[in-house]
Amino acid sequence: MKKQIINECRISFPSLSVNESYARTVTAAFAAQCDPTVKEITEIKTAVSEAVTNAIVHGYRGCVGKVELLLRQYSGGLIYITVRDKGAGIADIEQAMTPLFTTASEEERSGLGFSVMSSFMDKVSVKSAPGKGTSVTMEKRISCRASAEELRREPAGQVS
Ligand SMILES: Nc1ncnc2c1ncn2[C@@H]1O[C@H](COP(=O)(O)OP(=O)(O)OP(=O)(O)O)[C@@H](O)[C@H]1O
Ligand SMILES: [Mg+2]
Repeated sequence: MKKQIINECRISFPSLSVNESYARTVTAAFAAQCDPTVKEITEIKTAVSEAVTNAIVHGYRGCVGKVELLLRQYSGGLIYITVRDKGAGIADIEQAMTPLFTTASEEERSGLGFSVMSSFMDKVSVKSAPGKGTSVTMEKRISCRASAEELRREPAGQVS
Protein backbone atom coordinates (compact mmCIF):
# COMPACT_ATOMS: atom_id res chain seq x y z
CA MET A 1 0.00 0.00 0.00
CA LYS A 2 1.33 3.43 -0.94
CA LYS A 3 2.32 5.65 1.96
CA GLN A 4 0.13 8.71 2.26
CA ILE A 5 1.58 12.03 3.47
CA ILE A 6 -0.58 13.55 6.19
CA ASN A 7 1.52 16.55 7.09
CA GLU A 8 4.84 18.11 6.16
CA CYS A 9 6.99 20.94 7.48
CA ARG A 10 10.31 22.34 6.24
CA ILE A 11 12.49 24.80 8.03
CA SER A 12 15.99 26.07 7.46
CA PHE A 13 18.27 27.98 9.78
CA PRO A 14 21.91 29.08 10.04
CA SER A 15 24.26 26.61 11.72
CA LEU A 16 24.41 28.46 15.03
CA SER A 17 24.47 26.28 18.13
CA VAL A 18 21.44 28.14 19.56
CA ASN A 19 19.39 26.69 16.70
CA GLU A 20 19.90 23.12 17.87
CA SER A 21 17.28 23.58 20.60
CA TYR A 22 15.01 25.33 18.08
CA ALA A 23 15.17 22.29 15.76
CA ARG A 24 14.50 19.96 18.68
CA THR A 25 11.45 21.95 19.79
CA VAL A 26 9.99 22.20 16.28
CA THR A 27 10.42 18.45 15.86
CA ALA A 28 8.70 17.72 19.17
CA ALA A 29 5.77 19.99 18.28
CA PHE A 30 5.42 18.34 14.85
CA ALA A 31 5.61 14.77 16.18
CA ALA A 32 3.19 15.59 19.00
CA GLN A 33 0.40 15.98 16.43
CA CYS A 34 -0.11 12.24 16.28
CA ASP A 35 -0.08 11.77 20.01
CA PRO A 36 3.09 9.74 20.63
CA THR A 37 4.24 8.55 24.05
CA VAL A 38 6.68 10.71 26.03
CA LYS A 39 9.37 8.08 25.39
CA GLU A 40 8.82 8.19 21.62
CA ILE A 41 8.91 11.96 21.47
CA THR A 42 12.07 12.09 23.60
CA GLU A 43 13.77 9.59 21.29
CA ILE A 44 12.82 11.52 18.14
CA LYS A 45 13.98 14.84 19.65
CA THR A 46 17.29 13.34 20.73
CA ALA A 47 17.96 11.81 17.31
CA VAL A 48 17.27 15.15 15.59
CA SER A 49 19.44 16.94 18.13
CA GLU A 50 22.37 14.62 17.26
CA ALA A 51 21.96 15.08 13.51
CA VAL A 52 21.60 18.88 13.75
CA THR A 53 24.58 19.12 16.11
CA ASN A 54 26.65 17.14 13.59
CA ALA A 55 25.67 19.53 10.79
CA ILE A 56 26.67 22.50 12.97
CA VAL A 57 29.93 21.21 14.45
CA HIS A 58 31.25 18.93 11.68
CA GLY A 59 29.46 20.05 8.51
CA TYR A 60 30.11 23.75 9.00
CA ARG A 61 33.27 23.62 11.11
CA GLY A 62 34.68 27.16 11.35
CA CYS A 63 31.94 28.69 9.24
CA VAL A 64 28.20 29.25 9.19
CA GLY A 65 25.95 27.64 6.58
CA LYS A 66 22.36 26.60 6.03
CA VAL A 67 20.87 23.58 7.80
CA GLU A 68 17.58 22.20 6.46
CA LEU A 69 15.12 20.15 8.47
CA LEU A 70 12.32 18.29 6.71
CA LEU A 71 9.61 16.68 8.84
CA ARG A 72 6.98 14.42 7.34
CA GLN A 73 4.17 12.43 8.84
CA TYR A 74 2.78 9.51 6.86
CA SER A 75 -0.33 7.49 7.50
CA GLY A 76 0.08 4.74 10.06
CA GLY A 77 2.17 6.84 12.43
CA LEU A 78 5.35 6.94 10.35
CA ILE A 79 7.53 9.97 11.08
CA TYR A 80 10.18 10.76 8.48
CA ILE A 81 12.93 13.31 9.15
CA THR A 82 15.77 14.64 7.02
CA VAL A 83 18.57 16.88 8.29
CA ARG A 84 20.69 18.30 5.48
CA ASP A 85 23.76 20.51 5.29
CA LYS A 86 25.90 21.66 2.38
CA GLY A 87 29.09 21.60 4.38
CA ALA A 88 32.25 19.48 4.55
CA GLY A 89 30.68 16.10 3.81
CA ILE A 90 31.89 12.65 4.91
CA ALA A 91 34.48 10.65 2.96
CA ASP A 92 33.78 7.26 4.57
CA ILE A 93 30.19 6.95 5.79
CA GLU A 94 30.59 3.42 7.17
CA GLN A 95 33.54 4.49 9.30
CA ALA A 96 31.70 7.64 10.49
CA MET A 97 28.78 5.47 11.62
CA THR A 98 30.96 3.06 13.58
CA PRO A 99 30.32 3.47 17.33
CA LEU A 100 33.03 5.56 19.05
CA PHE A 101 34.51 6.83 15.77
CA THR A 102 35.03 10.60 15.90
CA THR A 103 37.16 13.15 14.12
CA ALA A 104 36.81 15.53 17.05
CA SER A 105 38.15 13.63 20.08
CA GLU A 106 40.08 16.74 21.20
CA GLU A 107 36.69 18.42 21.70
CA GLU A 108 35.62 15.57 23.94
CA ARG A 109 33.19 14.23 21.39
CA SER A 110 32.53 10.56 21.97
CA GLY A 111 31.63 9.34 18.49
CA LEU A 112 28.23 8.12 19.57
CA GLY A 113 25.88 10.47 17.71
CA PHE A 114 25.06 8.06 14.86
CA SER A 115 24.71 5.18 17.36
CA VAL A 116 22.15 7.20 19.31
CA MET A 117 20.23 8.01 16.11
CA SER A 118 20.24 4.33 15.09
CA SER A 119 19.10 3.07 18.47
CA PHE A 120 16.27 5.59 18.83
CA MET A 121 14.96 5.48 15.26
CA ASP A 122 13.84 2.48 13.17
CA LYS A 123 15.97 3.44 10.18
CA VAL A 124 18.85 5.86 9.58
CA SER A 125 20.41 6.45 6.19
CA VAL A 126 23.20 8.83 5.31
CA LYS A 127 24.12 10.34 1.96
CA SER A 128 27.23 12.44 1.80
CA ALA A 129 30.02 13.59 -0.47
CA PRO A 130 33.18 15.44 0.53
CA GLY A 131 32.82 19.16 -0.16
CA LYS A 132 29.12 18.80 -1.03
CA GLY A 133 27.41 18.13 2.28
CA THR A 134 25.49 15.50 4.18
CA SER A 135 21.91 14.36 4.33
CA VAL A 136 20.69 12.18 7.21
CA THR A 137 17.27 10.58 6.85
CA MET A 138 15.57 8.90 9.78
CA GLU A 139 12.28 7.08 10.14
CA LYS A 140 10.29 5.97 13.14
CA ARG A 141 6.89 4.35 13.34
CA ILE A 142 5.16 5.55 16.43
CA SER A 143 2.15 4.15 18.20
CA CYS A 144 -0.01 6.88 16.68
CA ARG A 145 -3.08 7.20 18.83
CA ALA A 146 -4.73 9.93 16.74
CA SER A 147 -6.35 8.77 13.49
CA ALA A 148 -5.67 10.35 10.10
CA GLU A 149 -9.25 11.62 10.15
CA GLU A 150 -8.69 13.41 13.45
CA LEU A 151 -5.47 14.95 12.15
CA ARG A 152 -7.23 16.34 9.08
CA ARG A 153 -10.27 17.52 11.00
CA GLU A 154 -10.10 21.29 11.20
CA PRO A 155 -8.24 23.74 9.01
CA ALA A 156 -6.06 26.18 11.00
CA GLY A 157 -7.98 29.17 12.28
CA GLN A 158 -11.42 27.55 12.06
CA VAL A 159 -13.48 28.10 15.18
CA SER A 160 -16.24 25.68 15.91
N1 LIG B 1 27.04 16.51 8.98
C1 LIG B 1 28.30 16.06 9.02
N2 LIG B 1 29.26 16.63 8.23
C2 LIG B 1 30.53 16.18 8.24
N3 LIG B 1 30.98 15.16 9.01
C3 LIG B 1 30.08 14.56 9.82
C4 LIG B 1 28.70 14.97 9.86
N4 LIG B 1 28.06 14.18 10.74
C5 LIG B 1 28.97 13.33 11.22
N5 LIG B 1 30.20 13.54 10.67
C6 LIG B 1 31.41 12.75 10.94
O1 LIG B 1 31.05 11.51 11.53
C7 LIG B 1 31.73 11.36 12.78
C8 LIG B 1 30.84 10.57 13.73
O2 LIG B 1 29.66 11.32 14.08
P1 LIG B 1 28.95 11.02 15.46
O3 LIG B 1 27.82 11.96 15.61
O4 LIG B 1 28.66 9.56 15.55
O5 LIG B 1 30.08 11.32 16.55
P2 LIG B 1 30.67 12.73 17.00
O6 LIG B 1 29.82 13.85 16.50
O7 LIG B 1 32.11 12.77 16.59
O8 LIG B 1 30.57 12.65 18.58
P3 LIG B 1 29.24 12.83 19.48
O9 LIG B 1 28.07 12.85 18.54
O10 LIG B 1 29.23 11.64 20.38
O11 LIG B 1 29.43 14.14 20.18
C9 LIG B 1 32.07 12.77 13.24
O12 LIG B 1 33.18 12.80 14.15
C10 LIG B 1 32.39 13.45 11.90
O13 LIG B 1 33.69 13.16 11.47
MG1 LIG C 1 27.76 13.83 16.73
